[in-house]
Amino acid sequence: MHLEEYTSLKAYNTFGIDSKARYFIEINAISELIEVLKTHRNKTLFVLGGGSNMLLTKDINALVLHINLKGIEVVTEDEDRISLKVMAGENWHDFVMYCISHKYGGVENLSLIPGNVGTAPIQNIGAYGVELKDVFQSCTAVEVATGEIKVFNKEACDFGYRDSIFKTRFKGKYIITSVTLSLTKRNHLTHTSYGAIKEVLAENNCTDPTIADISQAVIAIRQSKLPDPKILGNSGSFFKNPIIDTDAFKAFRLAFPDAPFYEVSPTEFKIPAGWLIEKAGFKGKRFGDAGVHEHQALVLVNHGNATGHEIWELALKIQREVKQKFGIYIEPEVNVF
Ligand code: EPU
Repeated sequence: MHLEEYTSLKAYNTFGIDSKARYFIEINAISELIEVLKTHRNKTLFVLGGGSNMLLTKDINALVLHINLKGIEVVTEDEDRISLKVMAGENWHDFVMYCISHKYGGVENLSLIPGNVGTAPIQNIGAYGVELKDVFQSCTAVEVATGEIKVFNKEACDFGYRDSIFKTRFKGKYIITSVTLSLTKRNHLTHTSYGAIKEVLAENNCTDPTIADISQAVIAIRQSKLPDPKILGNSGSFFKNPIIDTDAFKAFRLAFPDAPFYEVSPTEFKIPAGWLIEKAGFKGKRFGDAGVHEHQALVLVNHGNATGHEIWELALKIQREVKQKFGIYIEPEVNVF
């Protein structure tokens, strides 16, 4: 274990922001993590997984722990299901590909989501009609204050839309070290009703899709809309889709009858933030090196050398103008530091 100082975090966050960490340690074993928590009690900690859901607006005056725990292990298995314990530092998409090649079903709709397995529960990653919580069994985490290892089952995580207890009550209190997921080995419960997936499968004349077909369809859709962080720095959806109540929705529909929406419950309506941002005139716009993606307005991008501060300024401008035009507040989905 090596304590580095003034380390550039550019390669460690998918926005490609060149912030510096005052201290930096790569964690390759749980024992190392527990030791670091003990020996560096006096330092502020900053936990870094895949760096795919954060915007760094300044240098990080803390000890950055890069969680690099690796490994996949079978917990239980029968003819129908398999339960896998996946270490936090495994890349999420590589894990999805592992499942596809072993014919384990459940995560195929979550193909190509950037980030690591250990951070997936924090914001309950989701795409194309599936969320992590649908396959989640439990996760193991180390309590920062005590170094004790705790297990959280699904109920304890209190999952919501891009939300969990690790973003609310237990924010900064635990470091997730592994996630256990329950997957199907046969009779896969596929989710293909999401518009874009249906279309791609139909184009490919795929009437009885396998999990590999679904994964390929999702990869094709994501590649057509979402920029590859290796080519264009980004953090996926920058904002959450806002949920508004019946009164606000009625007024909104009256003013904007063409707006897409999803009914979340009889009294809650989700409006795509991408649509609001596009209609506010931001799609494809560029302010220096900070920009809005040309194919998906919900994604802010770093065209090269934008600072985190410049991207944040753009986000605030978008937030203000969307509020002005539609009366709707859009909340960032990424964690801003
Ligand atoms: N839309 C526009 N203009 C845009 C973007 C979208 O009008 O620039 C409209 C679309 O036409 C569509 C609606 O908004 O009617 C929804 O768009 P899309 O299907 O692309 O999905 P989204 O709601 O914008 C959410 C997730 C994505 C996830 C997709 C697919 C959030 C915040 N984002 O985006 O997640 O991949 O659905 O399930 O919920 C992420 O979290 O990083 C992410 C990429």
